[in-house]
Amino acid sequence: MASIVPAAIGTPTLRIDGRAKVTGAARYGSDEAVANAAHAYLVTSAIARGRVVGFELEAARRVPGLIDILTHETVRGQVKTPSAPGGKGKTTTTLESDQVWHAGQIVAVVVAETFEAAREAAHKVTVRYAEEAPAATFDSPGVSSEPAATANKQHQDPAVGNAEQAFAAAEAKIEAEYETPTQHHNPMELFTTTCLWSGDRLTIYEPSQFVHAVRAEVAKQLGLELENVRVISRFVGGGFGSRGGITSRTAWIALAARRINRPVKLVATRAQGFTIATYRAETRHHVRLGATRDGRLQSLSHEGWEVTSRPSTYNVAGTATTARLYNCSNVWTRVNIVHADRNTPGFMRAPPETPYLFALESAMDELAVALAIDPVELRRMNDTAVEPIKGLPYTSRNLIACFDEAAAAFGWKDRSPSPSSMRNGDWLIGWGCAAATYHASISAAAARVRLTPAGTARVETAAHDIGTGALTVIAMTAADRLGLSVDKVAVEIGDSDLPPGGLAAGSTHTASVCTVVAKACDEIKERIARAATRANDSPLAGVEPASLMLTQASLRLPSGASEPLDKAVGRLGGAVEVYAENIPPGAPPKAAQMVYHGQPAMARGSELKDQIRHSFGAQFVEVNVHALTREIRVSRATGAFAAGTIINPVTARSQLMGGMIWGISAALFEATEIDRERARYGNDDFAEYLVPVNADIGKVEVILVPEEDRDVNPLGIKGIGELGTTGMNAAVANAVYHATGIRVRKLPLRLDALLA
Ligand code: MOS
Repeated sequence: MASIVPAAIGTPTLRIDGRAKVTGAARYGSDEAVANAAHAYLVTSAIARGRVVGFELEAARRVPGLIDILTHETVRGQVKTPSAPGGKGKTTTTLESDQVWHAGQIVAVVVAETFEAAREAAHKVTVRYAEEAPAATFDSPGVSSEPAATANKQHQDPAVGNAEQAFAAAEAKIEAEYETPTQHHNPMELFTTTCLWSGDRLTIYEPSQFVHAVRAEVAKQLGLELENVRVISRFVGGGFGSRGGITSRTAWIALAARRINRPVKLVATRAQGFTIATYRAETRHHVRLGATRDGRLQSLSHEGWEVTSRPSTYNVAGTATTARLYNCSNVWTRVNIVHADRNTPGFMRAPPETPYLFALESAMDELAVALAIDPVELRRMNDTAVEPIKGLPYTSRNLIACFDEAAAAFGWKDRSPSPSSMRNGDWLIGWGCAAATYHASISAAAARVRLTPAGTARVETAAHDIGTGALTVIAMTAADRLGLSVDKVAVEIGDSDLPPGGLAAGSTHTASVCTVVAKACDEIKERIARAATRANDSPLAGVEPASLMLTQASLRLPSGASEPLDKAVGRLGGAVEVYAENIPPGAPPKAAQMVYHGQPAMARGSELKDQIRHSFGAQFVEVNVHALTREIRVSRATGAFAAGTIINPVTARSQLMGGMIWGISAALFEATEIDRERARYGNDDFAEYLVPVNADIGKVEVILVPEEDRDVNPLGIKGIGELGTTGMNAAVANAVYHATGIRVRKLPLRLDALLA
């Protein structure tokens, strides 16, 4: 039974913010009570490429309650264009000019007394354009393509040996092309921004995965001192990568609030969220695998193509992972970016492994079929403790343990290997599997922890709980280290006035934040212990400080003498407060400053000097495909995951289960449809952007495989936010192949692909 009382890391613990969420007490960005706020409504571009040549605003100005209308003509010169995600070039905006980079770009902001008046006036704004023919996506006339290595100096295409030669010589060969579609995050909470000025000081309420980055970027854009910008994001209704960086709406709303000298609140519509925020770009892959007759990989090539906007060089480059997943001495990879007239994409759970593993893990299944080798055995014989590119050892790797545990729970041994050989009445049964993996990275972070003589603690860090359970794991870590129960720990997050908590993305947040919280707590314990052992009036006088522990509201020897916490802490003047920060090994120089300037000083799991850090998993899926109608149903899925220390099994399981469900969704349902003539999104709402409902998801089983990793970081945390999604696309497609004998290499996999 889960409980809220126990303290120790690893104890199943209910969310400490659960009550606030279910009672509606949790305040999301646009829930903040801001007195006298005016309401903004966005006017977005009807064309995808060209220029704005003029506005007709008279009809809009006549709407009762209209306060102001901002266009590039009114804001130009007051603002700099924000960076694209990951700092890769510039993003798309009309803040600085009349240029339209994509359909749905913000071209005007209407401000009025009420939301309804702003909306009515916005619909009465007429924009005149000089339109050019846009290029929508791959193969559209007018797109331009370049290698990612040309576009970004820091980009690397992992390679080793001679893949070409080894492929030519291989006994078994697979060569195939795979495709994944455009997808949008669609978090339940809409994209909102509320800005208020008090003199020169700007406060921003905006759902965010990194408030310090928003602060730094807005300060840069508007030419403000860092100290004069505060960003608050107490609760976030889903991020999935869409709230990791900054988009141009924030500057628009800040400028609107300054112009009218009054707070301004924006709640963009669901459809606008498709174009004013980021998304997962469509990808293409060319994979070649060469192997011996008994299944040993001899050659692996993976070339990827990703769409991005015109001015950005954004890409996710998943070959960093696919080049290293298996033992293979000849590897060649390349990533290309394709510029189209589109909004700039961004990180979407799990970048980049979700699309790139679909290609590799489908190809591995094709190889298993070609060689009549069991897909699990094929992974086993190509497992490696050392990544093949630089020969770095994994800090820990339990891929095969995950395959074995998941296979046993799933009942894989009863699988009949031939396609369409398992059947239940009119339904063809298919079983498929795939590997899951994600790099275990860590970012710079800081925290302030205060312990009172009454045995309560307070943790302050600008961390973010985007639904992950971050608040709870932070409280658990402090409770564990200070010997308190979780309900004695108060946690304050989501405010850039707090010490920077790093970026809540890339499966880094728990490792980053809990590491510094533990560090601060350990120093608190040391200070108290040192003082007690030096005090004549303490029963612990003369004892070695390191042998003492904090537990049950006292400082004590494991067996024997103890002193109550009020005495021990009181001796230091009332309460003990410690600020701790962590700059990860492998982070770039000046990481310390970067924490304060909003950049995620990040040690990537795949780029460390002498070791490589990844979490692993194995995912098994059962599909039922109707023999006549070809309706596809996922009846059950089993995933086993080894991701180092699991602080809270309750929220970890929920993250992994959510990831698996999203993987089923990505494989079978989700795709943003693009009008190729107009470069516009055609299904920008929940009626037409398909996501699964409960009836679409069968049984989902999550197995946590115990793993201790002493090298990955001090607490041994690898992270689990992304891992659960990564193998699912391929596992579903491989199961559909097993059910039908039809190999579908293009997602989403819908029934029309199975109608021969
Ligand atoms: Mo995640 S896409 O790294 O928020």
